Amino acid sequence: MPSTLTLAASGGAQTGAGPDPASPLCLRGLTVSYGDKPALFSVDATFPAGAMSAIIGPNGAGKSTLLKAALGLIPTVSGQVTVYGQPVAAARDRIAYVPQRASVDWDFPTTVIDVVLMGRYRKLGLFRRVSRAERALALDALARVGMEGFADRQIGQLSGGQQQRVFLARALAQDADLYVLDEPFAGVDAATERAIIDLLKGLKAQGKSVIAVHHDLATVAGYFDHVFLVNVRAMAEGPVETTFTPAALAQTYGGRLAATHLDQLALTVR
Ligand SMILES: Nc1ncnc2c1ncn2[C@@H]1O[C@H](COP(=O)(O)OP(=O)(O)OP(=O)(O)O)[C@@H](O)[C@H]1O
Ligand SMILES: [Mg+2]
Repeated sequence: MPSTLTLAASGGAQTGAGPDPASPLCLRGLTVSYGDKPALFSVDATFPAGAMSAIIGPNGAGKSTLLKAALGLIPTVSGQVTVYGQPVAAARDRIAYVPQRASVDWDFPTTVIDVVLMGRYRKLGLFRRVSRAERALALDALARVGMEGFADRQIGQLSGGQQQRVFLARALAQDADLYVLDEPFAGVDAATERAIIDLLKGLKAQGKSVIAVHHDLATVAGYFDHVFLVNVRAMAEGPVETTFTPAALAQTYGGRLAATHLDQLALTVR
């Protein structure tokens, strides 16, 4: 019941704590606004290293905004972001980011292999010629997501699930420590979802950290170790078993989850 809720927003337990240098992504008092109205308000979060973490909240809750602000892709109003204790600008090489598929311009004229190689540009240097070894690494990443036959295809000519897999290959090719994914399972079939979760669990087994925005509440307990619930403010964070409770979900989603849905979740969660 509500006693299991850990309130982490402004005024909550964590306010005032300094950044955690061991955390792959640590937010303190993060506020982001696109106009007058904040999309995120005074958010604290400490994602654990070597774990799979889910970011959960309703549409418009600020989940994508949180990732973009954390990665330094959009300006923040206030607050502090650290990646393994460093400012994000100093740790960018250690992060691979898969954006929300709907936010990408798929008409951009480029091939699948070039999208994957983009994940390595930081290592390659933007204008250096791609070596045979780099190309082999990119092809290997495509093979790991089952897209080996598509290297020379235009990205606009792929299905939604195939596009998602190409973006995952790009992240894999980057060889990062922190993998940040915005709805990696959106629009993919069950077999692809299984393949993606196996890849992500493989990364975790190597000691890497994974943070993913996730909408399917029924699979949270099976896929993730840690959850962060957000709706403009941080609502709760912690291990799935103690934090991902019907009470916390009801608070995060307001009245938007039916009671029957919450009851079913209680059965899968507990
Ligand atoms: N570029 C933008 N300009 C103005 N407002 C924006 C912009 N991007 C997002 N917003 C607004 O900020 C809020 C948070 O958006 P965000 O995309 O972070 O939500 P989300 O939690 O990722 O939602 P979804 O589950 O639908 O992907 C929303 O109210 C959205 O309308
Ligand atoms: Mg989003």
